[in-house]
Amino acid sequence: MNITGKTILITGTNRGLGKALVEEALRRGAKQVYAGARVPMEHSDKRVTPLTLDITNAAQIQEVVEKVKSLDILINNASIALSDDLSDRTAIEQHLAVIFFGTYDMTQAFLPLLTRSRGAIVNVLSLAALAASLRALLAGQGVGVYAVLPGPIDTEMSRSLDIPKASPESVAQALFDGVEKGEEEIFPDPMSESLAESWRSGAVKELERQNATLVAAGEGKS
Ligand SMILES: NC(=O)c1ccc[n+]([C@@H]2O[C@H](COP(=O)([O-])OP(=O)(O)OC[C@H]3O[C@@H](n4cnc5c(N)ncnc54)[C@H](OP(=O)(O)O)[C@@H]3O)[C@@H](O)[C@H]2O)c1
Repeated sequence: MNITGKTILITGTNRGLGKALVEEALRRGAKQVYAGARVPMEHSDKRVTPLTLDITNAAQIQEVVEKVKSLDILINNASIALSDDLSDRTAIEQHLAVIFFGTYDMTQAFLPLLTRSRGAIVNVLSLAALAASLRALLAGQGVGVYAVLPGPIDTEMSRSLDIPKASPESVAQALFDGVEKGEEEIFPDPMSESLAESWRSGAVKELERQNATLVAAGEGKS
């Protein structure tokens, strides 16, 4: 995709990466940039349309939908990063409201325009999203965190799927086998087992190990 001549909507543009994305889109010849922000900023370039847009506010999303007549690229950039150790439910709810449901609502709202233009959705995520953090946080307290990653199991949940399935008994057995062997990720059936080796030697698992070292080093300091 070429950015030249494209119409782009970016969220969270009043500062940080969002602000830089507006400038970069203009530099690359975007035809129009809709710059969403909770407190929108005027811009000297006429191609920029500032929009009042809190992505957790359904009415504001609707107002923006009514203003934007065509769209090639939606950049979901707005985000928050409240400092917490996963013990504060309110902080988790705030993260979900902005990062998960805000991004979801924006995507749903603009999907019709993006489908029409055969456009693109760009979600700005984070390396931190890839590695399990609860495990690193609890390691210092001696609590292990295991993830069980089954493929299809022959229960009510997958009754409509006509594919090979593992029996619940075999998955139950593999779950306890995994815990007894200290396998942080448990692949408890033939379908999931085929991914186990590449997972254990892969980049994401390596990132998690690095994060654990950083968390442990931080705990050592306090
Ligand atoms: N900075 C990093 O180290 C880092 C690393 C990895 C990924 N990222 C990702 O990069 C993206 C940009 O982050 P950043 O570094 O530019 O952070 P930032 O400087 O804190 O900016 C966050 C932006 O999101 C906006 N925002 C927050 N809640 C919003 C809401 N409900 N509705 C609309 N806008 C909202 C903020 O607006 P207000 O001014 O109104 O709060 C601000 O414009 C995020 O997706 C972040 O997860 C950042």
